[in-house]
Amino acid sequence: MITEEPLLFEISCPGQTAVAMPDTDVPPVRPEQVIPKTLLADAPPPLPEIGPLDLVRHYTALAHRLFSIDQHFYPLGSCTMKYNPRVNEKALAHSGMADLHPYQRDEDVQGLLEMMHRLAEYLAEVGGMAEVSLQPAAGAHGEMTGLLIINAYHRDRGQKRSKVLTPDTAHGTNPASCMMCGNTLVTVKSQPDGRVDLADLRSKVDADTAALMITNPNTCGKFDSQIGDIADLLHKAGAQLYLDGANMNAVMGITRPGDFGVDVMHYNTHKTFSTPHGCGGPGSGPVGVAEHLRPFLPVPVIVRRENGTYGWDHNRPKSIGKVRSFYGQIGVLVRAYAYMRALGAEGLRTASEKAVLAANYVAARIRHRYTMPFPPPYAHEFITVPDFEGTEIREVDFAKRLLDYGIHPPTMSWPIHHCLMIEPTETESKRTLDRFCDVLLTMADEAERSPETLRTAPHEMPVGRLDEVAAARKPVVRWRANGG
Ligand SMILES: Cc1ncc(COP(=O)(O)O)c(C=O)c1O
Repeated sequence: MITEEPLLFEISCPGQTAVAMPDTDVPPVRPEQVIPKTLLADAPPPLPEIGPLDLVRHYTALAHRLFSIDQHFYPLGSCTMKYNPRVNEKALAHSGMADLHPYQRDEDVQGLLEMMHRLAEYLAEVGGMAEVSLQPAAGAHGEMTGLLIINAYHRDRGQKRSKVLTPDTAHGTNPASCMMCGNTLVTVKSQPDGRVDLADLRSKVDADTAALMITNPNTCGKFDSQIGDIADLLHKAGAQLYLDGANMNAVMGITRPGDFGVDVMHYNTHKTFSTPHGCGGPGSGPVGVAEHLRPFLPVPVIVRRENGTYGWDHNRPKSIGKVRSFYGQIGVLVRAYAYMRALGAEGLRTASEKAVLAANYVAARIRHRYTMPFPPPYAHEFITVPDFEGTEIREVDFAKRLLDYGIHPPTMSWPIHHCLMIEPTETESKRTLDRFCDVLLTMADEAERSPETLRTAPHEMPVGRLDEVAAARKPVVRWRANGG
């Protein structure tokens, strides 16, 4: 049953309070003692007054309206919304982690430093890279760091190279990172099968090319098997190969970017190694580099000293400098470490195999009813265009209707028009995958028999279709008494 949940302001009752504390026996500090009189308001702000139980019920009711990975299947392509093992949270809540202060002396935080050093080594091993910096705080931040490293490398060799190439399937953050780093963006076409168009790439690589930023497997869910040739092509032209490693969950333990010619990469630790953050949340985008780029990594770099203790190496004269305060997004890093330790090397490979199997299973079950712009096999995700002859139904209608079935919509309308990008992840059971396929097949029937059902969805949600233009142009972001 959908019930309207009133705002706290609407259920406010003068005199109610959610906090029951005895009166203090310490004389209170009056506002006028600490704030200049001219800055003081005439009266306290009209905040809602609510009893404790009503307050708890209000927030619990709102929380139950959320779509979340703990309550719903969440096949959000490219975001890897998988299970967050609770043991990771336990590791993070340990006082040896949770109570640390970033200004503590290195001697006092040896355990954390050892963990970070090990994590950097594990990531380097998974990616086949020589060294990893844990500093960048998100995938996009990793991209920027990687490009700064590449630019510093070319500068150090006395070369001025400005062009960065990205395939037309690139995640939006790739072109944005190019612009942030002062590079010129050039787009490379893809072939009909979703892989890079080599002829187009060849025609665009020249002496001004700093790098190609490629995502592999790419955002069409295809592993680009030409990657070795692509690396050769770039290296022969003196350019670097950057890998957007956001999709590493498809290849962990199966292949390594360093082995197929990648010079710099970032890891989306917050997706591949748990802590999925679809629609926001903390992130972490460590950057790995091949041997020749180690001098350019951000400082400080975590090191193990000869006496077995851990500390920071600031002495890298060619470093691009610091890219984040303190040492990185520790919470996500601890979770990633716990995740990798729990799975082990074999377990990481199995996770990738299951992610790939899940995507290919779902694709195989629905492909007789849905258009698949790219041929199988797929990596950990795939793209489908829900187009049904004689109907005007679009991807957004499918996304909204899925909500009625208790499923979070997939990523939409990218990297090609009108598509849904489906990533089931390795942590979903076959039962859940089957239910999802059944729902998609039912929706295909609905599209043909009663398209209006999709066009007007969702029907079971507290809020239906919004006027998206008004929401963007005339947002109503605060409550006013009497709707004023
Ligand atoms: C392929 C790809 N590249 C880059 C990013 C950017 O990562 P972040 O959101 O952590 O900045 C994402 C995020 O989902 C991604 O899917």
